[in-house]
Amino acid sequence: MSSIADCRVIDLGKISSDKGSLTYAETDYNLPFEVKRVYYTYDIPAGAERGGHSHIDQHELVIAASGSFKITLNDGKKKQTVFLNNPQKGLHIAPGIWRELIDFSTGSVVLVLASDIYLEEDYIRDFNDFIKNK
Ligand code: TYD
Repeated sequence: MSSIADCRVIDLGKISSDKGSLTYAETDYNLPFEVKRVYYTYDIPAGAERGGHSHIDQHELVIAASGSFKITLNDGKKKQTVFLNNPQKGLHIAPGIWRELIDFSTGSVVLVLASDIYLEEDYIRDFNDFIKNK
């Protein structure tokens, strides 16, 4: 069973030149799982909260591709809040961790790399069910 200790901010590195910056995520180099799906959320209104679920098997890497936001993590025993505001860094969220995304800055873009295709059966969306399964 995963805990918050299994979640960490990964510095993906950056290639900079006078043309700008480039960051990449590559399995077995700086990414601890294989990516099967990418999604991104944007046009997020002030005060919105996203997430509010855990995954049974899937790993995710969450990147503030633009702007900033906070992610609260809860493993059923411990809680931690991570602030993301740098597109060079991604938060690896292991399976079995409840996450909520809050405090989005204007124009923020949440880029997520996920270890599997979209499977609703991999979600726990009810916090009481999440706690019951701990
Ligand atoms: P949801 O998981 O509630 O988004 P968030 O965690 O960012 O708040 O997803 C919103 C809707 O989008 C929901 O109906 C499921 C659907 N969805 C897909 O169809 N495919 C996907 O890859 C994702 C992430 C969501």
